[in-house]
Amino acid sequence: MSGSSLPSALALSLLLVSGSLFPGPGAAQNEPRIVTSEEVIIRDSPVLPVTLQCNLTSSSHILTYSYWTKNGVELSATRKNASNMEYRINKPRAEDSGEYHCVYHFASAPKANATIEVKAAPDITGHKRSENKNEGQDATMYCKSVGYPHPDWIWRKKENGMPMDIVNTSGRFFIINKENYTELNIVNLQITEDPGEYECNATNAIGSASVVTVLRVRSHLAPLWPFLGILAEIIILVVIIVVYEKRKRPDEVPDDDEPAGPMKTNSTNNHKDKNLRQRNTN
Ligand SMILES: *[C@@H]1O[C@H](CO)[C@@H](O)[C@H](O)[C@H]1NC(C)=O
Ligand SMILES: *[C@@H]1O[C@H](CO)[C@@H](O)[C@H](O)[C@H]1NC(C)=O
Ligand SMILES: *[C@@H]1O[C@H](CO)[C@@H](O)[C@H](O)[C@H]1NC(C)=O
Ligand SMILES: *[C@@H]1O[C@H](CO)[C@@H](O)[C@H](O)[C@H]1NC(C)=O
Ligand SMILES: *[C@@H]1O[C@H](CO)[C@@H](O)[C@H](O)[C@H]1NC(C)=O
Ligand SMILES: *[C@@H]1O[C@H](CO)[C@@H](O)[C@H](O)[C@H]1NC(C)=O
Repeated sequence: MSGSSLPSALALSLLLVSGSLFPGPGAAQNEPRIVTSEEVIIRDSPVLPVTLQCNLTSSSHILTYSYWTKNGVELSATRKNASNMEYRINKPRAEDSGEYHCVYHFASAPKANATIEVKAAPDITGHKRSENKNEGQDATMYCKSVGYPHPDWIWRKKENGMPMDIVNTSGRFFIINKENYTELNIVNLQITEDPGEYECNATNAIGSASVVTVLRVRSHLAPLWPFLGILAEIIILVVIIVVYEKRKRPDEVPDDDEPAGPMKTNSTNNHKDKNLRQRNTN
């Protein structure tokens, strides 16, 4: 509201130059005045409906339409020609928090608006449960949040159950923070120090939230393991075949040569041999 004096002065002078309309002598006193309801804090419980209100209390200008915006984006189906505006959120959640504006458009004056802040504790709506990488690679972990005001972000690593703050650009750690997003990059992963639980913590004036990502770091050899496994299988198979063949041969050779060998134990091989021999004698 207060910042609209310069644009309206500009528009006024433009109108004067074009000479098309009536800039009455009292125009400056008749600037739109908007009364709004209080700021709102959304709590998890009890979940109470929220109603935002704006009343246009003084304006000599003809209203053409008014609507609501959230974080600068027009809310659909709120456009009306009404100087008393209401926006209702029946089941408010953290994602409904943000900066709401009621905006009034006039026939021959700059638009005017007022702000209502709807606040909520951060809620982390996106993150990786785990990140699996090989040593020497880079890891990227992130968290996304809803809630307003936008949170301050902290990354921590649990060392023996104790969360320790991670400092940006301390060696191999790099943190990128945006309003509702944070990213932790660890470069050149070390198998001895880096695996573990990483926690992102979002804190604003209303509350805080945190979630954990588990980082696993595998050894360089890990990608070779399936190949080594197959190789080992082949070697074992070859060994088994060779051993089997070696055991079989000394048995068969004397069996064929000796016509009567009843000293042998009753193995199936011996039965087959006897049958063969009987058929041969027939
Ligand atoms: C509200 O008014 C301010 C000052 O004129 C302007 O910068 C801002 O863009 C307006 N916001 C909306 C949502 O119209
Ligand atoms: C806006 O006007 C309506 C109707 O006159 C009234 O009930 C409401 O309390 C007003 N809201 C504010 C924020 O002044
Ligand atoms: C909006 O309502 C006002 C007052 O009732 C009226 O003068 C104006 O023409 C209306 N504007 C539109 C665009 O309908
Ligand atoms: C995060 O913020 C950006 C810009 O501030 C916005 O475009 C986006 O919708 C927000 N995302 C969420 C999940 O709030
Ligand atoms: C971390 O450091 C880098 C490089 O110095 C910088 O671009 C980035 O904004 C810093 N991040 C935070 C959260 O301070
Ligand atoms: C986030 O960090 C703040 C500041 O250290 C702490 O007070 C808060 O309890 C933490 N929140 C969670 C959910 O761990």
